[in-house]
Amino acid sequence: MKADAPLLSIRDLVVDFAPGSGRLPAVDGVSFDIGARELVCVVGESGSGKSVSALAVMGLLPETAAVSGAISFEGRDLRALTRRQWRSVRGQQIGMIFQEPMTSLNPVFPIGRQLVETLRAHERMSLRASRDRAADLLDQVGIPSPRQRLDDYPHQLSGGMRQRVMIAIALSCSPRLLIADEPTTALDVTIQGQLLDLLNDLRETFATAILLITHNMGVVAEVADRVVVMYSGRIAEQADVFSIFDAPRHPYTEGLLASTPDLFSTERRLTTIVGSMPNPAAPPPGCLFAPRCPLALDMCARERPELRSVVGGQQSACLRAEQMAMGDKP
Ligand SMILES: Nc1ncnc2c1ncn2[C@@H]1O[C@H](COP(=O)(O)OP(=O)(O)O)[C@@H](O)[C@H]1O
Ligand SMILES: [Mg+2]
Repeated sequence: MKADAPLLSIRDLVVDFAPGSGRLPAVDGVSFDIGARELVCVVGESGSGKSVSALAVMGLLPETAAVSGAISFEGRDLRALTRRQWRSVRGQQIGMIFQEPMTSLNPVFPIGRQLVETLRAHERMSLRASRDRAADLLDQVGIPSPRQRLDDYPHQLSGGMRQRVMIAIALSCSPRLLIADEPTTALDVTIQGQLLDLLNDLRETFATAILLITHNMGVVAEVADRVVVMYSGRIAEQADVFSIFDAPRHPYTEGLLASTPDLFSTERRLTTIVGSMPNPAAPPPGCLFAPRCPLALDMCARERPELRSVVGGQQSACLRAEQMAMGDKP
């Protein structure tokens, strides 16, 4: 791998669950990179293709899905891996955590045993050494009295503590990349904040990059270095986190920001973006966001804009990205 090559590079990723049907693909031409130790948030409404993109990176899409594009990790072409090679990449080089830890933890075994098994699957280690290491890991993810907790069953822990155990399992092999798909969505806001802080801290300890999927701009504000905004299977905008919040160049990003409740408040959302995502079977001819867009002009209903560089490293798929910067806001 070249020294300046990104850790993960995705180019023109297309995932189509119904090829030839004329429906919009679930993921339609997505390209982005993640650098070593970088925290990239992928944000967008439900159904925008965030999880499907992550599953493509993990090699976990159903065989029936038609996939094209390139995914390279540490210079390695992930799309060319065999099933067997995949098993060694998953867990060892790329870890993952999902929204509901109860579905990933085995309810009939103590958490210590589950950690120990993961550790011993990847490295030769005595039982005693692996229990010590498991207790260390629980300590590192902020679980109090880790040694006693090793013998707890998943149902004995709170949702937040279970998610900490999942993070410990995912990090047990020191992966270079951690993929976290809505890991805090099921938790209350205080616990959410604590887990986000933890993920952020663990980047240093484990030298891990993080791909964090969320539908919540409050989460993005908390931890992201860079942000990929997805809409209807495509990237609407991508930029560093400051540009996204201070000078968004896509009206969809602006809409997401306007409808974000403060992460630590219990207030309901202020505004919502009117309308819903297009029906994939009957998409509008032009920009997929045009029917909901407060800035849309006639041209927006005719032309489907491609993602392009607007300023610095900021990319937008809005035909009016330049005007947005001049204060032409709804
Ligand atoms: N296994 C599947 N088969 C068919 N369609 C799917 C499958 N998984 C996801 N989809 C569709 O792909 C689109 C994107 O889904 P997803 O990536 O899960 O969205 P989200 O951004 O909420 O994570 C949705 O329209 C969803 O219905
Ligand atoms: Mg999802």
